[in-house]
Amino acid sequence: MLPPSPIIDELLAAAYGRAESHHEGVVADYIPILAEADPEAFGLCIVDVQGGLHELGDTRTRFSIQSISKAFVYALVCQEFGHEKVLDVVGVNNTGLAFNSVVAIELNDGHPMNPMVNAGAIATTALMPGDTPGQKWDAILAGLSAFTGRTLDVDDVVYRSEAATNTRNHAIARLLESYGRITHDPLDVVDVYTRQCAISVDARDLAVMAATLADGGVNPVTGTRVVSAEVARDTLAVLAANGLYERSGEWLFEIGLPGKSGVAGGLVTIAPGKAGIGSYSPRLDSAGNSVRGQIATAYLSRSLGLNVF
Ligand code: DON
Repeated sequence: MLPPSPIIDELLAAAYGRAESHHEGVVADYIPILAEADPEAFGLCIVDVQGGLHELGDTRTRFSIQSISKAFVYALVCQEFGHEKVLDVVGVNNTGLAFNSVVAIELNDGHPMNPMVNAGAIATTALMPGDTPGQKWDAILAGLSAFTGRTLDVDDVVYRSEAATNTRNHAIARLLESYGRITHDPLDVVDVYTRQCAISVDARDLAVMAATLADGGVNPVTGTRVVSAEVARDTLAVLAANGLYERSGEWLFEIGLPGKSGVAGGLVTIAPGKAGIGSYSPRLDSAGNSVRGQIATAYLSRSLGLNVF
């Protein structure tokens, strides 16, 4: 059980204040447009499993969802094809290496290892239902919109900026193809993946998406079931192991909750049966995780007693 609303608001303000005093970390620039983000922007939001909302700061500032989309696309694919197939094709184990590592693929006989690194996410997007890239894209946009409870769209400027520069993801997809791990056209799959990463959200959307997983797959704001309770549980297990890449162990040790970061500065954290936390702050650590997001979430996890261990 979470404490009454005024106490949550007080703790949210304390978490915000603590994180706001941190100015370390750098805004990502390998996708050129991301370098234009305001490094001081900061929004923090909690949505509980009854749909109650608490927010502070820049919670309505839009940014691209980036790797946070991987968690929700993974859930949609599991919902369609089941746990076993996705386990076999994509895997669940941490690589211990960076999110865009090519070495990890080579070290593991072309297996993408887990759906949160780029290789595994590209392989997961390839599994989305639909015979054409357009059908897969429509299913992704509809599915992620159900998680947020509003109709999402793509930030076209972000999409074009990444599409013009993502040679590394092309290389990853070609490498997967060379090992027979992707059967669709690899560049078409990367294009859908790039679009999914450019979906525009705010911190409040992220908190609702997280709360949907916390609520066993039911969006607590709209009341719609988006995925089954089993799929929500599987997704949280994968996030606990891999959501913050090679820092996932430290994150789990400090915060004790499943989470997922995105390179534009978004972060989602799920307190199962209790609430979802969404934050936005584009200063990142060296693994690509929001610095302020991690500090604020650690405070909330401790003060609200959310750690699952
Ligand atoms: O594929 C990429 O590199 C980006 N679209 C997403 C990477 C990302 O968000 C890493 N997360 N912290």
